[in-house]
Amino acid sequence: MQDELSEILLASDVIACRVEEIAAELGRRLAPLAERDEPVVLVPVLTGSLVFTADLIRQLPQKMRLDVVTVSSYPGASTESRGATIRGAVPEDLEGQHIVLVDDIFDTGNTLSLLDRLVRERGAASVTICVLLAKPSRYEVELRPDLVGFEIPDAFVVGYGLDYDGLYRNLPFIGVLKPEVVE
Ligand code: IMP
Ligand code: MG
Repeated sequence: MQDELSEILLASDVIACRVEEIAAELGRRLAPLAERDEPVVLVPVLTGSLVFTADLIRQLPQKMRLDVVTVSSYPGASTESRGATIRGAVPEDLEGQHIVLVDDIFDTGNTLSLLDRLVRERGAASVTICVLLAKPSRYEVELRPDLVGFEIPDAFVVGYGLDYDGLYRNLPFIGVLKPEVVE
């Protein structure tokens, strides 16, 4: 699989260090809740945030519930977003809850903007958006993520949960696909 990459953008140890920092920062932001012994509701956006979420939550000591949501925006072998569509169940019972939306990447921002609206409509008391990656040059929405691991250039990346046509999610690092792989 590795020979299909033109470059490794973020090595696994670099990701691990940053995830530790993000967990510490998120922990600081959630400290008032932890002091009141109130659980936070973490909403991982599947499938891309699976690996990031698994690493992140094991470094967050506070009480939490996980309530996943599945969104797809890249049908099949495509690197062009077709707009976010929610697949399957949407988290309910969010009234008065403090929500952390966790995703792999804030690209155009349409996915997280849709989910931010949705959880607010369901009565969330607060919404924090936490993403591993962001591509500021691609933003199409007013909303901004609260916590960003790495700002990256406008390249299609895979690994550490991110896919192309469903593949490469299991790579432990993040790399750029060779143009000939992306047809
Ligand atoms: P957005 O709605 O444009 O912000 O796109 C968000 C979703 O598109 C992310 O949750 C990813 O699943 C996917 N995505 C965006 N950029 C990339 C990329 O470079 N590689 C893999 N998936 C991506
Ligand atoms: Mg996604």
